[in-house]
Amino acid sequence: MVHKVKAAVVRSKNADVTLETILVPDPGPGEALVDILTCGVCHTDLHYKQGAINDDFPFLLGHEATGVVSAVGPDVTDVAPGDRVVLNWRAVCGECRACRRGEPQYCFNTHNATQKMTLEDGTELSPALGIGAFAEKTLVAAGQCTKVDPDADPAAVGLLGCGVMAGIGAAINTGNVQRGDSVAVIGCGGVGVAAVAGAALAGATTVIAVDIDPKKLQRAQDLGATHTVDSSAVDPVEAIRELTGGFGADVVIDAVGRPETYKQAFYARDLAGTVVLVGVPSPEMTLELPLLDVFGRGGSLKSSWYGDCLPSRDFPMLISLYRQGKLDLDAFVTERIRIDQIDEAFDKMHAGAVLRSVVEL
Ligand SMILES: NC(=O)c1ccc[n+]([C@@H]2O[C@H](COP(=O)([O-])OP(=O)(O)OC[C@H]3O[C@@H](n4cnc5c(N)ncnc54)[C@H](O)[C@@H]3O)[C@@H](O)[C@H]2O)c1
Ligand SMILES: [Zn+2]
Ligand SMILES: [Zn+2]
Repeated sequence: MVHKVKAAVVRSKNADVTLETILVPDPGPGEALVDILTCGVCHTDLHYKQGAINDDFPFLLGHEATGVVSAVGPDVTDVAPGDRVVLNWRAVCGECRACRRGEPQYCFNTHNATQKMTLEDGTELSPALGIGAFAEKTLVAAGQCTKVDPDADPAAVGLLGCGVMAGIGAAINTGNVQRGDSVAVIGCGGVGVAAVAGAALAGATTVIAVDIDPKKLQRAQDLGATHTVDSSAVDPVEAIRELTGGFGADVVIDAVGRPETYKQAFYARDLAGTVVLVGVPSPEMTLELPLLDVFGRGGSLKSSWYGDCLPSRDFPMLISLYRQGKLDLDAFVTERIRIDQIDEAFDKMHAGAVLRSVVEL
């Protein structure tokens, strides 16, 4: 059976997001059909709309979602109809060289649904990050469904599906932040503020939030920043060094993903420190650094795919910390909106007015 449902689609580069009827097939082998409850608006959705990810229009946007499994393929045993799930965009394969060497968080062959969702005229849709959850129903690989506690607020825990997990994981997984560390986070949108929260959770004693928009800095403080730097007014490298005894931070996280912010992160870290790139650059961006500085400053330069998370390990752990009051996921939900308000949410994101707008389906 094919399900006809309402969904948010962008048909061409920079076109308005339109509400369309899409066709979603019943799950085949390895797949799950999910009734979406909530889906957050992430900067990556805007990158898709702008054609900054690839040109495979039309895109079915949305990928920070909670839902209820409504049907599974014949061989699926991990999840069952009725399960409350958070969707993830890196369902590990278990067979690639990363999985085989016991590092499934780096899986090089992550899974999505095999069957395609389409527009009514048969045009195949490209679901954002293999999810496409600004829709009443979506079809994913069963491994993209992580079963979670059904009592937690879906709008809050759904954000673990992308930006909040990416940010927290950039700090606790990729950056390996330890108790007593100093950490600086450049860019305090949903991802950066989550990195601030992750650094605080890991026991960092100095957590410096940097943004060009002072509005963002207040929220970062609410989620654990000990210091803030308005980099539209002062040099962030100097400011971070001043706040860390003149040395730089142990871990600096670039949650913007531009050459200039990466350079700031590179020079604002202490010798032998770590840079984590979690913001996603666009294809035309290039980086130039003196190779001698790369050598002379030592340490490590890392990129963080999805916070190097393992959804099966990290989502339930973080939801448990949320329920214990140790991680304020509610603070990330700035507003709850309808599916026809996604372009407005992009405008608010651009204006710095929200951490996350969450669509309730
Ligand atoms: N690595 C991953 O797996 C992953 C996952 C999700 C999102 N992302 C990426 O993370 C980035 C941030 O996403 P978001 O949802 O938080 O976006 P957002 O738009 O909510 O936040 C971006 C923030 O960066 C600030 N900013 C912009 N230019 C700056 C500069 N030069 N210096 C300092 N701050 C600056 C903005 O004021 C804003 O607060 C995006 O590139 C997104 O695509 C990566
Ligand atoms: Zn793999
Ligand atoms: Zn995202």
